[in-house]
Amino acid sequence: MQKEDIIDKRRKHFLPTAAIYHKIPIQLVKAKGEYVWDETGRQYLDGIGGIVCISVGHNHPKIKKALMQMLENDEIQHTSLLYLSKHVVELADRLLQEAPEGLDRVSFTNSGSEANELAFMMSRQTTGESMILHLRHSYHGGTSGTLAVCGHNTWRFRAQPVANVISAEAPYCYRCPFGKKPDSCALECAKNVETTIQTSSHGKIAAMICEPVMGVGGFVTPPPEYFKEVTRIVHNYGGKYISDEVQTGAGRCGGNYLLSKELKIDADIVTMAKGMGNGAAIGGLICKSDVASSMSGKLYFNTFGGDPYPVVQARMTLDIIKEDNLIENARTQGQFLMNSLKSMMKTHPLIGDVRGRGLLIGVELVKDPVSKVYATEECAELMDLCKEKGLLLGKGGLFGNVLRIAPPISINRKQIEEMINIIDASLFEVEKKYGYKSN
Ligand SMILES: Cc1ncc(COP(=O)(O)O)c(C=O)c1O
Repeated sequence: MQKEDIIDKRRKHFLPTAAIYHKIPIQLVKAKGEYVWDETGRQYLDGIGGIVCISVGHNHPKIKKALMQMLENDEIQHTSLLYLSKHVVELADRLLQEAPEGLDRVSFTNSGSEANELAFMMSRQTTGESMILHLRHSYHGGTSGTLAVCGHNTWRFRAQPVANVISAEAPYCYRCPFGKKPDSCALECAKNVETTIQTSSHGKIAAMICEPVMGVGGFVTPPPEYFKEVTRIVHNYGGKYISDEVQTGAGRCGGNYLLSKELKIDADIVTMAKGMGNGAAIGGLICKSDVASSMSGKLYFNTFGGDPYPVVQARMTLDIIKEDNLIENARTQGQFLMNSLKSMMKTHPLIGDVRGRGLLIGVELVKDPVSKVYATEECAELMDLCKEKGLLLGKGGLFGNVLRIAPPISINRKQIEEMINIIDASLFEVEKKYGYKSN
């Protein structure tokens, strides 16, 4: 099928919400390591990994070999948890070794949305409360319950169900909702969680859900002290704390396999997906025993959750991350990339903020550093220009003005330098086109 036919059929037969990246869309047909190829054979450095899903590199040879072996041996593809399989137990064992202290139960799903839905249900079941508190600018998935806690008008529908949720202000330092500066604030954003509970609930909540770095929101990175304060508040008001690590997990943030562990976040439930399976459709959660035991005597079932092939991919991904020291790589390469992008701020007036952790880095583009007007068109143009020069990147933020960088964490220094050069050259072109004065 020709590319034009694919575009045509996508437009005619898919939901109108099925967006495609880039003015001239690309068809990706091949991938290896940190690179992907289109149907013409053109190579691109993958700076976004689908959507933050590729951890150890595309088609990692060890994973490929294991999957081919499984197929060769006619290993069963689907069992469901109603039958025994060693693979799912091996993954559970490995994940629990990486878990923050006190989290000792697991459950597997096919996606991040399902993991969060399950986390809501477990929190409600444990506490007997129904209210879920979330943050503005957050994103937790595309199902009914998770969309109800979405902090972006663009993702929400008129048909939104009533789901008993309240939202607190985001810990968005660059655009602090309280007009403060990070070095002199009194964590007003954390205190807002308490006033939100006090003023918008009956005084108790089932849970707060929070991403340790807000992905879709544009890699908004809360100060580490934020978490100590909000977990204390949430527990004080009888709620469970859900740490949504769908984007921040799998070692991407450069400290531990889970950022909750590195930041010592006192989470009751940690949800995961994306990079966990290195491209396989797998999600899951780990939680404390009291949350898990609230479900005893009930039935909960997920047809595909825990099936052998995706589970093996997730377990091997974790093993490769550890064996190849990829968490350390995410930290050092991420630091280098972050420093380079920060120093580009002197040259490029479009860059308002550079933030993130490890290899999860956001570059917020603004029309003016004082008014901080969102440079939405410029961001889309920048993504297109980078693509033309052989680099794929993503974007996010409420107004689509944040360039999102999340390459496989196996990326090396030379590739990071290639990325920096392409972003730098593309920024000069965008600034010229839109009449900004580059320095
Ligand atoms: C932080 C976060 N949570 C949950 C989800 C939902 O995951 P999925 O699309 O696998 O359902 C996403 C997806 O982008 C996400 O970024």
